Amino acid sequence: MAFTYFFRDLTALNAIKEHVIPEVRKSRYIAIWDAGCAMGPEPYSLAIIFKENLGYYEFKRLKIYATDLDEESHQFGKIIAEGIYPEESVKRIPREIFEKYFSPNNKPGHFKIADEIIRCVSFQKHDLRSLQPVRDNFGLIVCKNVLLHLQESERINVIKMFHKSLAPGGFFATEQTQKMPEKTAYLFRQVTPSVQLFQKI
Ligand SMILES: C[S@@+](CC[C@H](N)C(=O)[O-])C[C@H]1O[C@@H](n2cnc3c(N)ncnc32)[C@H](O)[C@@H]1O
Repeated sequence: MAFTYFFRDLTALNAIKEHVIPEVRKSRYIAIWDAGCAMGPEPYSLAIIFKENLGYYEFKRLKIYATDLDEESHQFGKIIAEGIYPEESVKRIPREIFEKYFSPNNKPGHFKIADEIIRCVSFQKHDLRSLQPVRDNFGLIVCKNVLLHLQESERINVIKMFHKSLAPGGFFATEQTQKMPEKTAYLFRQVTPSVQLFQKI
């Protein structure tokens, strides 16, 4: 089920701000893969955190590849391209961030994200079980509340694929309740004990 909302995991977003942004901003292009992005609140939350913490030209170098199986054809690509979301999905966004990046839409009870944020996120349909990365040299891969739907052996292969498609020293973030399998633990170091944020070794 594609349950999601904006700023779902503030602890992880803060860890990304503290540990990931200072590293990835050094590279020429900043590529992020949000795997299992559902309707888009997660990649857009990431885009906002990067916008808040990067300079004007640095932000122009950011591209977020948002992918999902979209098995039941909820048209995630269309929703993400439009960037219009119901109040329910945006109500946990910190007030000052919400006021800065969202404006009321003609559709009652709906809000539209600023174009500068929409521009850096692109969607494609993708099945993680294909084990084909959407590109390589990612600075950060975020895959939250998705791996639990896979069998243990599939999960291990997907995490190995993520490891391969990360740039040297790139980061991988998953949800708090998802433990790193023993068979892939040697590929990463955990950045901080309180968050499931890992750096490629
Ligand atoms: C609960 S949502 C998580 C959305 C977002 N990552 C979050 O944490 O808020 C899980 C998403 O994983 C996607 N998904 C499940 N299996 C997948 C697979 N094999 N490949 C890609 N996406 C998958 C579903 O379509 C769904 O949109």
